[in-house]
Amino acid sequence: MIHLDANASTPLRPEVLEAMLPWLRDGYANPSGTYGAAKRARQAIELARAEVAQWLGAQPEEIVFTSGGTESVNTALHSLDAHAGPGPALVSAIEHSAVLRYAEALPRGLRLVPVNEGGRLDMEAFSEGLDGAAFVSVMAANNETGVIQPLREVCAMARERGLRVHTDAVQAMGKIPLKVRELGLDLLSLSAHKLHGPKGVGALYVRSGLRFLPLLIGGGQEGGRRSGTENTAGIVGLGVAAAIMCKQAAVDEHAALRHLRDAFEAKLLDELAGVTVNGDLGHRLPNTSHLSFDGCEAAGLLILLDEAGIACSAGSACMSGKQRPSHVQVAMGIDEMRARSSLRFSFSTLNTMGEAFAAAVMVKRAVEKLRRVQGPGVGAVQVYCV
Ligand SMILES: Cc1ncc(COP(=O)(O)O)c(C=O)c1O
Repeated sequence: MIHLDANASTPLRPEVLEAMLPWLRDGYANPSGTYGAAKRARQAIELARAEVAQWLGAQPEEIVFTSGGTESVNTALHSLDAHAGPGPALVSAIEHSAVLRYAEALPRGLRLVPVNEGGRLDMEAFSEGLDGAAFVSVMAANNETGVIQPLREVCAMARERGLRVHTDAVQAMGKIPLKVRELGLDLLSLSAHKLHGPKGVGALYVRSGLRFLPLLIGGGQEGGRRSGTENTAGIVGLGVAAAIMCKQAAVDEHAALRHLRDAFEAKLLDELAGVTVNGDLGHRLPNTSHLSFDGCEAAGLLILLDEAGIACSAGSACMSGKQRPSHVQVAMGIDEMRARSSLRFSFSTLNTMGEAFAAAVMVKRAVEKLRRVQGPGVGAVQVYCV
């Protein structure tokens, strides 16, 4: 199988698995214990904290380990809500559902900031939206299109109004340079399984001095900021993944990732007519390719590609058994036909150039087959999703 769905999840790196195994096998001691085995678990967790902090340009005490991106995001919004003044939460219209659903449920309500047709935040609307808002949550990069958001400007403008900023960096971490202090962030969420780490573990950066209210309360672990016995193996895995990302950033692995994605896209665009690249080309994650194929239903393409051994995602959402434009596509003004014919291909540094080329060939074949079956003037083949 060629895995081109890294924005959904990534394989564990062998080094990450190796580092985790002893903690899964023998390192079961509760890190809060007072005996040797417990202290060793605590040390491993603190080492991981230092690694994640270094990667983010933060201090170790500013890192809180969580169960993943969703919990980090929910905790950040919960805490911001508890300490902010009146007014709605200001969030972009293209946030992940972890942000949107949580913010919608807040009694204070939310104000959505639109994006342009390239999927980037409308900064004029954002500036207007800041009036009377309580706090801000804008993602660093979008999970569907890979479009990178103007976070530096968002932070600067929010700070001028005295508003706190959280960013959902689950997709951006490891793909673009992101340093919390340089950006002026108050809170940042990340998740290990998008970065060749394990599932079920993530981190929340909490700027030192920021008033904070935990979401999970109980035994007071993580300095009282996230109760629950620590997932030692998962945290160790995240630490190793972060350390590898740090090294890769130093040798510009982001460029290698871009090279793979661009080669895949270039081959497809060269050899196939009726392909549209969605999202602002000047501001995309180096790994993401969101493409629409004229006259092809994404659900049909997914079936053909699965048979050919390619794993990727529909660019639209499956609702009531039918592909529908996702909220991201709606926000970008992508019409229904184009949305329903879109696929997301997302690469990781574990993909090879051979895979990129082979995948482009398979995608071309699948598109041509579907177009042949459909014939001219019939309209897109309807393939209902399950
Ligand atoms: C942008 C974004 N935020 C949050 C999440 C949720 O992360 P997790 O799966 O670790 O809960 C995801 C996962 O797809 C995501 O893409």
